[in-house]
Amino acid sequence: MTPAVATRAPVSRPSTQRYRWQALPNSAPEPPDNRTTTAKVKLGRKLFFDKRLSIDGSIACASCHQLTDSAYGADNQRVSSGIANQRGSRNSPTVLNAAFQRQLFWDGRAGSLEQQALGPLINPLEMGMPSLNAVVERVSNDPSYATLFRQAFPQQPQISIDNIAKAIASYERTLITPNAAYDRFVDGDESALSPQQIRGMALFESVGCVLCHSGPNFSNASLIDVSNGLRLFPAAIDTSYQAQYRLIEDRGAATQAEPLSSGVWRVPSLRNVSKTAPYFHNGSVDNLEEAVRIMAVTQLGRTLSNDPASRNSIRWSQDQQRFTSLDNAALSDADIRDIAAFLQSLTGQLPKGQINAETVQQKLEK
Ligand code: HEC
Ligand code: HEC
Repeated sequence: MTPAVATRAPVSRPSTQRYRWQALPNSAPEPPDNRTTTAKVKLGRKLFFDKRLSIDGSIACASCHQLTDSAYGADNQRVSSGIANQRGSRNSPTVLNAAFQRQLFWDGRAGSLEQQALGPLINPLEMGMPSLNAVVERVSNDPSYATLFRQAFPQQPQISIDNIAKAIASYERTLITPNAAYDRFVDGDESALSPQQIRGMALFESVGCVLCHSGPNFSNASLIDVSNGLRLFPAAIDTSYQAQYRLIEDRGAATQAEPLSSGVWRVPSLRNVSKTAPYFHNGSVDNLEEAVRIMAVTQLGRTLSNDPASRNSIRWSQDQQRFTSLDNAALSDADIRDIAAFLQSLTGQLPKGQINAETVQQKLEK
């Protein structure tokens, strides 16, 4: 048997075996060639907030990825505006916990934070620099950067685009939000979630959200528990949603050659999702409950109905960190609210102590 066939063989597992829920680690994985150090983080933070990295000095990374309680690493806009108020076509995803993702951007086209960071600098609608060399030149023009590069990269202290990307990526690896109520629950504090949230969590599993939003970062496109991170969305297009929210105008990672009616998209993390509306790649949906309904219907073929249905009991085993029993009914408004309530438990704290984000953000706005 060839390995390709072997990997497709169905995994047999006992029918009682359920999804194992995991807490977010307290630190993000680091690539061997870019270990996180305090000096790199300090340099990366300065670069992340530096508007001089845009052609007209008006936009920094932090303009579209605001590290505030109201924006949570995104920007509250349907689609972001870059230099000269130009609008792109996609919503700004949060940078929080991006460090746990192995596929970045809505269509998954970047494979690391280092690679991702170069995109916006020379995107004509975002920071609009004519070339990466021009970015290096801008940074070199500020003498205070020379010291920071020496401290961050003692072996090769030159101001290069590689080092710029590495420093920004190192900073982003500190922008993580462990210890949300969900994490405390999984780690043993059963009072961390309300009964409604526990119900929503069980539904999130039984309805099948975990097929794509799996692992500690709630995304198959994560570095932990690697799985298929690119999926059709909307998987079912015979619903009213795709016209209402223009869900198939942009086809994401789907290529011209593919005879698909839907786009292909990277499965996003759902951490802090209740803070980062509007939703989806085009920011067309304002409301989290509506986003959950769309997912249940288009990705999982579920129907929505308020008819009372009989339910099994829900049982959580703290020892096994699994549900040992779940219900499987059609989804009512109450079910949708419960799932959304569970998603709220994925909100962590901004890593303020470490980065003093509010202060820096205020400085940026001046
Ligand atoms: C003009 C607004 C804007 C600016 C400036 C900007 N970004 Fe973004 N960022 C976006 C948008 C929009 C996307 C999604 C684009 C896409 O998927 O095609 C994105 C995607 C990302 C992602 C991927 C997140 C994920 O979950 O896949 C990261 C990380 C990121 N940006 C970091 C940065 C960094 C670092 C900078 C500065 C060098 C920066 N951004 C500058 C708007 C912006
Ligand atoms: C078959 C895979 C799949 C399943 C199952 C699935 N999702 Fe998703 N989900 C995705 C993809 C892909 C996207 C990104 C869509 C896009 O690019 O606009 C997404 C986006 C989302 C978003 C919007 C995130 C944001 O930041 O804009 C939410 C909320 C969400 N899913 C929740 C759920 C819930 C709740 C369930 C279960 C009812 C679920 N998903 C089931 C693949 C899936």
